[in-house]
Amino acid sequence: MRNNHFIVFFDSGVGGTTVWQEVHRLLPNESTVYLADSKNAPYGIKSQQEIIELSVKNTEFLIRNYPVKMIVVACNTATTNAIAYLRANYNIPFIGVEPAVKPAALQSKSGVIGVLATQGTLDSQSFHQVVKTYKNTTIIEQEGNGLVSLIESGQIHSPEMTGLLQSYLTPMIAQNIDYLVLGCTHYPLLKNQIKKIVPQHVQIIDSGEAIAKRIKTVLEENKMMNTTSVHQQLFYTNKDTSLLRNLLPEQAKNVSFLDF
Ligand code: SIN
Repeated sequence: MRNNHFIVFFDSGVGGTTVWQEVHRLLPNESTVYLADSKNAPYGIKSQQEIIELSVKNTEFLIRNYPVKMIVVACNTATTNAIAYLRANYNIPFIGVEPAVKPAALQSKSGVIGVLATQGTLDSQSFHQVVKTYKNTTIIEQEGNGLVSLIESGQIHSPEMTGLLQSYLTPMIAQNIDYLVLGCTHYPLLKNQIKKIVPQHVQIIDSGEAIAKRIKTVLEENKMMNTTSVHQQLFYTNKDTSLLRNLLPEQAKNVSFLDF
């Protein structure tokens, strides 16, 4: 795999940009392609078979069209349901995003943490395994039904969003959580609204920064860092280009519509 090949990302929509931003901050010289499968969002209510089929479709599109050195599955639901299948069937390094339960469980003082994630993530075998690993911590699981659909339809700041967040977070707060894990890459886009609802002492964590560090380590260990001065950042969506464009920093607005 050549050093100047692309790190490619896919997600069920715009949420994986929260991961892309962390990766780009840490590795600004890497060329990237981001694929937002917004047409098929949300993945979190689909069967595992459907999630695998969509993940294969995205992977095939990316490897057919770009020289790829790494694939980032920038979606918790696709990671927990499909990354094992992808790793078994493609000879490319895949990096996935799992809910940051470990740091929350290790640092919690109350011994109670909340995990807000999709049904698909919470129901997955790999998440059940994580819960078993931290059996000394009380993990309050909450499905974030409807949150991804509202984000994908541009209603991040709507009263419906505030109402849903209040109904999901209030019971977790009442059970004394001191860490809230955002277990879906879309949810960091709601951080400001979430901060207004949870008490100040509750730490809100997601996986973006940790994934960026992991990617850097893998590139360094395998001598795959881009050492050339040529790099580009490309973004594709099969739905609303303005929604994706508005979430990206000024220098990264190369967004195109593509019916993949
Ligand atoms: C979804 O598409 O339902 C959510 C994506 C995620 O879990 O990150």
